[in-house]
Amino acid sequence: MTPTNRIAQLVEQLNEHNYRYAVLNDPAISDREYDALMDELSDLEARHPDLIQPDSPTQRVTSDLTREFPTVQHDIPMLSLDNTYSEDELRDFEDRIRRELPDEELQYVAELKIDGVALSLIYENGLLTRGVTRGNGTQGEDITPNVKTIKSIPIRLKTCAESMSSNDSIGEGLFSNPVPYCEIRGEVYLDHNTFDAINVLREKNEENPFANPRNATSGSLKLQDAQQVAERRLSFFAYSFRSPAIQLPTHGENLSYLERLGLPVNANRTPCDNIDDIIAQAREWQEKRPGLPYDIDGIVIKVNSIAQQNKLGATSKSPRWAISYKYSAEQAETVLKEITLQVGRTGVITPVANLEPVQLAGTTVSRATLHNAEELERKDIREGDTVILEKGGDVIPKVVRVVTAKRAKDTIAFEFPKNCPVCDAPLIKDETEVAIRCENPQCLAQLKGNIRHFASRTAMDIEGLGTALVEQLVDNELELVRDVGDLYSLELEQLEGLERMAEKSAQNVLDALEASKQQPFHRVLFALGIRHIGATVARVLSDNFHNIDRLRDTQPEEIEAVHEIGSAIAESIHTYLNTESNWTIVEKLRAAGINLESEAPADTGPKPLDGKTVVVTGTFSRWGRQQAQDLIRALGGKPTSSVSGKTDLVIAGEKAGSKLAKAEQLGIDVLNEEEFVELIGEENA
Ligand code: IVH
Repeated sequence: MTPTNRIAQLVEQLNEHNYRYAVLNDPAISDREYDALMDELSDLEARHPDLIQPDSPTQRVTSDLTREFPTVQHDIPMLSLDNTYSEDELRDFEDRIRRELPDEELQYVAELKIDGVALSLIYENGLLTRGVTRGNGTQGEDITPNVKTIKSIPIRLKTCAESMSSNDSIGEGLFSNPVPYCEIRGEVYLDHNTFDAINVLREKNEENPFANPRNATSGSLKLQDAQQVAERRLSFFAYSFRSPAIQLPTHGENLSYLERLGLPVNANRTPCDNIDDIIAQAREWQEKRPGLPYDIDGIVIKVNSIAQQNKLGATSKSPRWAISYKYSAEQAETVLKEITLQVGRTGVITPVANLEPVQLAGTTVSRATLHNAEELERKDIREGDTVILEKGGDVIPKVVRVVTAKRAKDTIAFEFPKNCPVCDAPLIKDETEVAIRCENPQCLAQLKGNIRHFASRTAMDIEGLGTALVEQLVDNELELVRDVGDLYSLELEQLEGLERMAEKSAQNVLDALEASKQQPFHRVLFALGIRHIGATVARVLSDNFHNIDRLRDTQPEEIEAVHEIGSAIAESIHTYLNTESNWTIVEKLRAAGINLESEAPADTGPKPLDGKTVVVTGTFSRWGRQQAQDLIRALGGKPTSSVSGKTDLVIAGEKAGSKLAKAEQLGIDVLNEEEFVELIGEENA
């Protein structure tokens, strides 16, 4: 067989095996056999690069980094769905449709509302040419290299000969040739198992876990390295099909057609003849929801006939022929045994609820955050209370409310201590923030947090210096480490004397410390853990001031003159470096041979918010208003105060009001705090 023929054969076989595996969940060969065929194909392609086919499975993962995702216009705006939350509202929807289409026979389809990220796919002559996010509805980001890594999305659509036998009204003629042009829309998501595996890996790498599968999906789709996107093993369900050449009479037939083109379509879809059927579906899926292997946040009801859909039309925001019925977040009830206090790296005290373990949204929960003293007081949460838990935007669940009816008579209101639970220093409440802090720079809890941050992957990247070792280094009676500078005078014998430290692992830690001396200055600056100095800000400071001595001697006004730097950052860096105890640490690092000056200014590359006009509204747990604006500036964005057509992005915290409403009205992208952190990267937050 000629290489050309063998390549064509392998491409066809591999694509079919991939389809059986990723779409039908019915693999015909083992992973090993698949890999062997894949190796043979890669080999042939390496020897005959001119014979590489556009639909070759080797083309799914490109090795180049995507510097930025171009903005592109959607053929037809990607609208969103109107939401309902009660059965009465569903009846209103059905009444409206019947009023608009009197005397017509109506049929609906009820589908699951997958809680993921909307995606538009364009196929030209059967080949996937574009994958675009929803963006603001009119324009989205072209993320094609990342979309190609999703194995259940075909890179070439099936035609008649390949597709399964038909038992619907779709004529065979529609299959004989590739579809000339079509747009397929659907939802990218992560199933629970894959999501859990991603978070296990992140924790192992000392990265913050993703809050939920949707955040993990949207973060993954924006990664610049397609190889990394492939490792996230994203999934897809198609829910709409549109092609000028192929116009089928009903939505149901469009979905069947999508299946025959080789796309994954969710099997849980049900024709409904009337409102009673619809309500039965809403109830059924509320019951079945906890057992599904992926998140849904409701069901979607669509008018089945495309002609009727067209008659009903759309408002500027959403179609009149569809509606979503949203489920509220899953909740669980349990007993709060004890309230303990956690001291963070920056001294912020967070009250934590220790709970009688309970199942919630697929995991066992035994701790929940109580956020801060104000919240604790407002909700009057007490030890011994029965409480309702919910998983919000965070990995850590929160206490929604107390079941006061179940409160025992002898409980007492929780009194927030006046002193740090670790070092006993008086706690201080900064008037401009809700946070209560321990401001003792010698507090051992803060020190532990600081060392963990210093050693983390995006800072000095010192492998082996994990939580257990940090605890021992600090708590050890020899007081081995009292600041991050001390790390570099640790000796082999000292480390070997610690628990669970064999000679080899002790040597590995020393080697990792030695290797960290090669980290560039901006990483060191970030690693110091100075308030408001995230990874990007550290880079900007390093590029503009070049070394730590100059940075120390520069006045805040001058630091602030740098375009990306705001006043909170400038004050913070100036104060830190001009505090004697901090400078002692810097001197220790200098003596150890750590880089305290930059070489040539680094190519900073694109920043996450380059050129974007951003509005912040509401309150955040991580930043005050000024800090959030500084952060946006540092990341290349332009913070403004009012929402208009020129706004690219709105970051909405708790209690966001009219600005959020306006953004939604204008169809502007809105991110909550967690989603924003996901976008800019935890190391910048
Ligand atoms: S139909 C005109 N069907 O829900 C809107 N959407 O605001 C057409 N979604 O982000 C959407 N599952 O991506 C439709 N079975 C489904 C869906 C679904 C999830 C998402 C959609 C969008 C949001 C609607």
